[in-house]
Amino acid sequence: MDKQRLVQTAEALVAAKKGILAADESGGTIKRRFYSINVESTEENRRNYRELLFRTAGISEFVSGVILFDETIRQEGADGTPLVKVLLDQGIVPGIKVDKGTISLPGAPDELVTEGLDGLGDRLKEYAELGAGFTKWRGVISITGNTPTSYGVSANAHALARFAALSQEAGLVPIVEPEILRDGDHSIDQCFDVTEEVLREVFNQLAQQKVLLEGMLLKPSMVISGGSAAQRAEPEEVAERTLDCFKRVLPASVPGVVFLSGGEPDGSVTANLNALNQRANKVGAPWELSFSFGRSLQGAPLAAWAGKLENTEAAALAFYTRARLTSAARQGNYVPEEKEMSAV
Ligand code: 13P
Repeated sequence: MDKQRLVQTAEALVAAKKGILAADESGGTIKRRFYSINVESTEENRRNYRELLFRTAGISEFVSGVILFDETIRQEGADGTPLVKVLLDQGIVPGIKVDKGTISLPGAPDELVTEGLDGLGDRLKEYAELGAGFTKWRGVISITGNTPTSYGVSANAHALARFAALSQEAGLVPIVEPEILRDGDHSIDQCFDVTEEVLREVFNQLAQQKVLLEGMLLKPSMVISGGSAAQRAEPEEVAERTLDCFKRVLPASVPGVVFLSGGEPDGSVTANLNALNQRANKVGAPWELSFSFGRSLQGAPLAAWAGKLENTEAAALAFYTRARLTSAARQGNYVPEEKEMSAV
């Protein structure tokens, strides 16, 4: 294992002002996203849309890495240039989603576990040859009356750590994503407790499986109220609770946290990221607090594109604007703009 290279890549992914674009929607997910704009999910449409994002002028100022799906890491742009090269030429690190989605957890029908460990070592070798510098695996935890159970938490944490250890062995920086879904009307206190339990178990498993903490990144959800809670916590409270929770369970040797956006509206997820960085700037935090957003970076450009070639420029502008504002929030300098509202 080339530890130094892992550490360098992890640090580059959370370089000042920068974060990650998650463009790794699986076949089913991108189909749903395209359906929302009345566009058929063909290979060409997927290529055209993602190429538009990757070729947006100036994006490398805000984007350090892009998470790709298996199809995309093998795809060429319209002029025959591999999309991986389009990213590398801008100094953007290509990454790859390596999990194979979720199934019902045997013995716990209300919980999910992520598949994809079988044969992962060989797949990782191939992805490294194709130019990937990092990997991602998503575990999913929901908050309901009877979940999560400690069994569900430990099964997901175990798989996350197995993935992380295998990735590092292949020279790839693992992005460990234990997502606590925002769905439900739970309070921020419940989210705090579940986040603490999940992260404690994830880092317990990472330690047992000898994962180099300096050579990985954590992709968590923020500590927030459930999406349908009557009273949703404001950004300052989200920042305080999230950092208090992390202080209990997140080792200082992890170089960075790259939050997911989780379906939270653009305005609120950006305000939350901003408050987190403002608080960290004030009280201090050992980790970079950055982003690895899918929906919150792509909602606006997807709507502006609508599957039409003539909308390419408008979509690129919408993406650039979301990336610029998210980068501002990553530094604690975010000011909502009117233009931002109209771009969506
Ligand atoms: P969202 O930001 O849309 O939650 O996507 C991030 C991601 O990569 C989910 O696995």
